[in-house]
Amino acid sequence: MTMKAAFQQNHHLNVNVNPSPRTRKVVTYALYALIPLALLHYYLLLPYPNAIPIPAASPSQPQPQPLPPCDYSSGQWIPDHRGPLYNGTTCHTIKDNQNCMAHRRPDTAYLFWRWRPAACTLPRFDPSSFLHIITNRHVAFVGDSMARNQAESLMCLLATASPPELVYRDRDSAENRYRRWVFRSHNATVSIYWSPFLVKRIEKSEKTGIRHNRVFLDALDERWIDDLQSMDVILFSLGHWFLIPGIYYEKDQIIGCHVCPPELNRTEMEIGFFDVFRKAVRATLEEVRRRHVEDARRERLVAVTTFTQAHFEGDWDKAGSCAKTEPYEDGEVQMEYTTARMRTTVLRELERIRMAAHGSRVNGLHFQAVDVTRLAMLRPDGHPGPYMYPDPFGSGSRDRVQNDCVHWCMPGPVDTFNEIFWQLLLLPH
Ligand SMILES: *[C@@H]1O[C@H](CO)[C@@H](O)[C@H](O)[C@H]1NC(C)=O
Ligand SMILES: *[C@@H]1O[C@H](CO)[C@@H](O)[C@H](O)[C@H]1NC(C)=O
Ligand SMILES: *[C@@H]1O[C@H](CO)[C@@H](O)[C@H](O)[C@H]1NC(C)=O
Repeated sequence: MTMKAAFQQNHHLNVNVNPSPRTRKVVTYALYALIPLALLHYYLLLPYPNAIPIPAASPSQPQPQPLPPCDYSSGQWIPDHRGPLYNGTTCHTIKDNQNCMAHRRPDTAYLFWRWRPAACTLPRFDPSSFLHIITNRHVAFVGDSMARNQAESLMCLLATASPPELVYRDRDSAENRYRRWVFRSHNATVSIYWSPFLVKRIEKSEKTGIRHNRVFLDALDERWIDDLQSMDVILFSLGHWFLIPGIYYEKDQIIGCHVCPPELNRTEMEIGFFDVFRKAVRATLEEVRRRHVEDARRERLVAVTTFTQAHFEGDWDKAGSCAKTEPYEDGEVQMEYTTARMRTTVLRELERIRMAAHGSRVNGLHFQAVDVTRLAMLRPDGHPGPYMYPDPFGSGSRDRVQNDCVHWCMPGPVDTFNEIFWQLLLLPH
């Protein structure tokens, strides 16, 4: 708990907690759980019967041909002299803390890599193609700060082809929790909904000394689900908030807690985070399916970005806590157990809901994983580190500065998440 704790407290992030007694018990079980992964990969490679149809291309604008379905999840980073797709100093939708270019991160090598999947190619992002696909559509990013990170990357990518107009921002705008843009050229909408658990929650508050999030696993967060009807493409990204202290409820009864408060008996009540994470994901996917049936005509793609692990080395406030300046090679690092299990949870829940939707012949609803866990794991160089603040070493001391080794610089590896997202939208259906 020492190395990331303080950063986490301030930034609502991933504490790499020691496994609780209960999580330790399941380690053996989880080894068996890896076997079905191979099967899942097989499923992921099967062509999907349907999804969002691509609007007919205008003759003046040739569209890339959809590629055969591909497993983008394993591969390697290879040097790419072409460099980034946008300039961080001129994209105005980046949260300051991830604007490494504007904060004068001195090394630039991290900008010159591309992801090469093991068995196919991942084309370079084409903003015109993406905008074309989302013409007259609404793409919503729902989740925690990782969802926002990916949404802001997409905004920078798309803004190179067409200027976005900010049409909505919530009153508490300093937090930037809810925003919506329209690309007038295509009547395409992109929005961000803050919802770190997807289900209802009362967030912890350092100010009032409440250390635990209270999470209601059987009720979805109305703030986004009430807008579901307007969403054609939904991307969920979440996970890190389940690792921090929380109290979990079902039917208004406490069912357990993680890093339990003193008033709850830890031996009896510690619930870990895998189970409650799975429940939140399942409740979300099921509710989306249920409401989709009511709204039967609409084509809709639901994507979930898989968990990405932090790259803190040593203390969170040491200048070099993710100081690597190039990617790991395949095989150089092992995936953390927590990360692997968070990823499989999402893949399994997607597979489960696909079967259920198929079994009950739900039309027009499609589920996909943006499976970036592995490619993200290989990019310790892609985080802001100290460059979450401008000119962090300007005032002298190199010893104690806050580091962000969880989110991604923009431009940076997170742009690859959106290249995969784009390919999922392009899949032949
Ligand atoms: C990004 O834009 C700024 C401002 O226009 C410019 O000074 C800088 O050279 C650009 N950086 C790159 C890498 O193109
Ligand atoms: C613009 O897009 C929205 C969906 O985001 C759609 O409801 C609306 O009908 C579109 N407008 C036109 C003129 O097509
Ligand atoms: C917590 O529960 C365990 C197991 O039921 C019990 O042995 C222990 O005394 C309890 N601790 C407290 C502080 O109530």
